[in-house]
Amino acid sequence: MPLSTLWRLLSVSLLSSLVFAQGPVRTLFPTAFPLAVKTPYLNTWYESFVSSDPLTKCWPQFWTFRGVPSIMGWSGKIRVNGVTYKWMGQDDAGTSANVTNIQVTPTRTIFVMQAGPMNVTVTFLSPVEADDWIKHSIPFSYVSVEAQSLDGNNYSVQVYSDISSEWASGDRSSAVQWSNTNTGSSIYHQIQLQGHPQNVENGNQAQDGTVYYAMSTSQSGLSWQINLDETVRDGFQKNGKLTNTASTAFASISPNFTVFGLAADLGTIQSTASPVTWSVGYVRDPSITYTAPGGAVQLRRPYYVTEYKSVEDAASIDAFTGDYAGAHSRAVALDQKIMTAAAKVSSQYSDLVSLATRQTMSALDFTVGTDSNGNIVPSDVKIFMRNMGTDRRVNPVEHIYAAFPMFLYLNASIGGALLQPLLEVQASLTGQSFAAMDIGNTYPVAPGSEAMPQQGVEQSGNMLIMALAHARISGDGTLLSQYYNTTKRWADYLVSTALNSTNQADQDGETADLANTALKGIIGVKAMAEIAHALGHDSDAARYGSQASLLLSSWLSLATSSGGSHLLGSYGNQESWSLMYNIFADKVLGLSFVPQSVIDMHTQYLSSLLVTAPEFGLPIDSESGTVGNAAWTMFASAFVSDENVRDNMIQNIHNHVNSNTSAAIFPESYSTKDNSVKSGGASPALGGMFAHLALTVPNQTISIGSANGNGNSNGNGNSVANGGPGSSTNVGAIVGGVIVGLAVVGIIMAMFVIVRRKRRMRKSVRVTEHAPHYPTRTLNRQHLSSESDYVPIAMDRIAGFAWIRAADPPAKAWRSEAMLNRTHPPAPSQFITTSSNIDSQTGSAWSRDPLSSRNSISTTEVMGLRTEVENLRRVMREIRAEQLKPPPKYAG
Ligand SMILES: *[C@@H]1O[C@H](CO)[C@@H](O)[C@H](O)[C@H]1NC(C)=O
Ligand SMILES: *[C@@H]1O[C@H](CO)[C@@H](O)[C@H](O)[C@H]1NC(C)=O
Ligand SMILES: *[C@@H]1O[C@H](CO)[C@@H](O)[C@H](O)[C@H]1NC(C)=O
Ligand SMILES: *[C@@H]1O[C@H](CO)[C@@H](O)[C@H](O)[C@H]1NC(C)=O
Ligand SMILES: *[C@@H]1O[C@H](CO)[C@@H](O)[C@H](O)[C@H]1NC(C)=O
Ligand SMILES: *[C@@H]1O[C@H](CO)[C@@H](O)[C@H](O)[C@H]1NC(C)=O
Ligand SMILES: *[C@@H]1O[C@H](CO)[C@@H](O)[C@H](O)[C@H]1NC(C)=O
Ligand SMILES: *[C@@H]1O[C@H](CO)[C@@H](O)[C@H](O)[C@H]1NC(C)=O
Ligand SMILES: *[C@@H]1O[C@H](CO)[C@@H](O)[C@H](O)[C@H]1NC(C)=O
Repeated sequence: MPLSTLWRLLSVSLLSSLVFAQGPVRTLFPTAFPLAVKTPYLNTWYESFVSSDPLTKCWPQFWTFRGVPSIMGWSGKIRVNGVTYKWMGQDDAGTSANVTNIQVTPTRTIFVMQAGPMNVTVTFLSPVEADDWIKHSIPFSYVSVEAQSLDGNNYSVQVYSDISSEWASGDRSSAVQWSNTNTGSSIYHQIQLQGHPQNVENGNQAQDGTVYYAMSTSQSGLSWQINLDETVRDGFQKNGKLTNTASTAFASISPNFTVFGLAADLGTIQSTASPVTWSVGYVRDPSITYTAPGGAVQLRRPYYVTEYKSVEDAASIDAFTGDYAGAHSRAVALDQKIMTAAAKVSSQYSDLVSLATRQTMSALDFTVGTDSNGNIVPSDVKIFMRNMGTDRRVNPVEHIYAAFPMFLYLNASIGGALLQPLLEVQASLTGQSFAAMDIGNTYPVAPGSEAMPQQGVEQSGNMLIMALAHARISGDGTLLSQYYNTTKRWADYLVSTALNSTNQADQDGETADLANTALKGIIGVKAMAEIAHALGHDSDAARYGSQASLLLSSWLSLATSSGGSHLLGSYGNQESWSLMYNIFADKVLGLSFVPQSVIDMHTQYLSSLLVTAPEFGLPIDSESGTVGNAAWTMFASAFVSDENVRDNMIQNIHNHVNSNTSAAIFPESYSTKDNSVKSGGASPALGGMFAHLALTVPNQTISIGSANGNGNSNGNGNSVANGGPGSSTNVGAIVGGVIVGLAVVGIIMAMFVIVRRKRRMRKSVRVTEHAPHYPTRTLNRQHLSSESDYVPIAMDRIAGFAWIRAADPPAKAWRSEAMLNRTHPPAPSQFITTSSNIDSQTGSAWSRDPLSSRNSISTTEVMGLRTEVENLRRVMREIRAEQLKPPPKYAG
């Protein structure tokens, strides 16, 4: 009896600590949080690696960074009974609020903070309106503030925010002009470069757009001001309101900073009645300069002009500033849909899709064409992707492929509109047998297709797989029927080339790494069979179908190790292996083409490699040294047939992004050894995080010549059995004693599992010490990208290709930026290194940071502990879920 009482007490206290751990405690510590992340040129982040300070003490940054400060002046304040607190920015007007939590959802980043007697919630919302392209293409984001007094007393409250003209250009010495407008429904500031050069980037920022900072006039107590930073901010601090005046002393962006303030006096309140909301935008029109087949150059316009004449059209800006409540509730609904579906895989997985969504969507520009008279042609819709984080390539095929799962899940028509320009420009290139890799490398200019024979298999496979995937999920077979000859040309190329192509991009010198690329090509041929079948070309379908089967069986004999235990990364090299992430294409197309027994064998082999893999997981293949890729790892985790392997791989990616010592925004490519960044910070490739969710979307019957209107999924297709949030509420109804009993069993079982796993791990480490090794290789310099001056990193490898960029330290560029003599300069801490090597850059920057030693001691241990707590929780959930099923005798 006393013993069971003891257990009871013990388990109750353990249970309650678990409950609290699931509660409001912050668990996500990525390097960067999206703030206003909406288009390639409205892309502002809180980067905790640039300064280890909270948002209330530092400046937001343009996405570019990587040790390179690219400040976007954006300040926020709340004044409570005459005392000013900062909720964003590094200026001197006010004391910094204390950040108590940060939460990330797919559309929102939410900071909770304490400002003296007030609890303040700051929400950064970049709408993802996947099913409403008019709304989605308005290049604006929101920031809103809610506040509540912590002691229940009433306080006199005013709120304030401004931006600087740093939002107008990366060239901080350029001259800007500005204006202020009241439409009756909105008050907005506008900033533009004087003489803005079209399509020319500086520091990855565009120069031909107009910056907006706006507020709805339905906000009571509104005031505004344009003047030098100290003047405006000190004025607010002193008076709690602005002067409603604009300086007309047009000047350069720096060294003296003009700011554009908008404030609201909320009166004496206990809490805000509704969120106070600012809208920030960066508007370019035309958005893309596209050369159509035949050579006509189109100036393509942002898609919202199908509804509004322009953003200046009051209806447009008023529709945005006045719609926060609607936009917020749509965002909450989308977030819930995504996060609920993702949580069925795991909470780590939910974190990853949340971090990836805005990052991926913001690499896109939704456009509409015009006719020769400049009239809009609403049916001419094309979407363009900037190869963010890598270079300025336009619609980079391998990164569209990496991100495709996200488009399939959110709205597959987005994928179609990305493929459309690639197909259109290649339809008449009958002399070119394989698919191009992009349509230019100087975003936002798309002069035409660029193809490399070394990427023929890779890109032809990508195109065929994506063309079919888009049609299956959207039900829209228009592209398939319109470009049938083009896809056939690529399929014919693959039939003769895929299995044993030489000189492909994945190949490096003598160590051919072909098996994974070859498999993609073969799945591409199989996809062509399905395309032909959908279009009723039965003899083509039969021909490509049997060719694909022949190729696959040859591939299996070439790519299976001699002992039959694993798949080889390069034919004939028994030591080689690969993630073989292209098997995912088989799953997403519903082909069941690669035999399940092969997937099982591969799963087991990956499982054995993971035993000795570092916490950041496996590299892409045995030839890549330590180069890991988050998208490809996620692809692999989505087809393996063992949930432990799946969860391990997801945990590896989570470890990668959840480490605030990594110096970039959720990088695509990184060292699995020490998590240092290789390339692809802020890359759209991270749309690949949606790989699991894409497999839950139901497919449609493909119809030709008619766009399908409602092909979107509910995301509820498959569900993994474990207790979600829904079941935990039911648990409360069950008699307490039962829970406690179960909890005891659960904890004992979990301990047992953990102890056993530890033993097993130790054992297998000993056994497999010599097994897999990851030889390093020197990569060929194959392609020099035209990356702009602000990205200083030598990239080893892009998306699985062996590309390398010249290491040119842009010390000049970022130094001049860092040393600009601001009125309130940035923290000097980490901008001192001149190394062009990001690995040592990260290392040295953090070793100078007083936090770094603490971080390095504890990260691994904390992660280990977290994993075990998570395991414990999972076991508990399973037991609970088990218990919730009605006993058999009550069923029916
Ligand atoms: C970095 O992450 C750790 C947890 O892993 C956290 O304690 C620390 O506050 C984070 N630092 C910053 C600057 O966000
Ligand atoms: C932040 O927290 C510290 C320690 O609790 C407290 O002294 C300070 O007043 C807080 N600052 C604000 C702005 O609330
Ligand atoms: C502050 O507000 C947030 C909601 O934004 C809430 O979750 C949190 O519990 C509040 N904190 C306090 C101490 O009231
Ligand atoms: C995607 O959104 C567009 C724009 O609203 C819509 O026309 C289309 O039907 C949607 N596609 C899918 C597959 O849901
Ligand atoms: C706060 O103000 C409201 C409205 O003026 C008033 O009804 C309420 O009693 C006040 N609360 C306190 C705690 O003073
Ligand atoms: C910047 O401000 C300082 C101090 O007010 C002034 O002396 C200087 O001339 C200004 N510089 C420019 C370029 O306007
Ligand atoms: C496709 O190829 C066939 C056979 O070569 C030809 O007859 C047809 O005109 C082509 N279609 C298009 C749209 O080019
Ligand atoms: C692949 O091609 C190379 C060079 O063309 C040739 O040496 C090799 O035998 C071929 N391998 C197979 C399996 O056909
Ligand atoms: C969905 O895909 C499967 C497998 O490819 C196929 O058998 C089925 O007919 C498709 N469903 C629809 C509605 O087209």
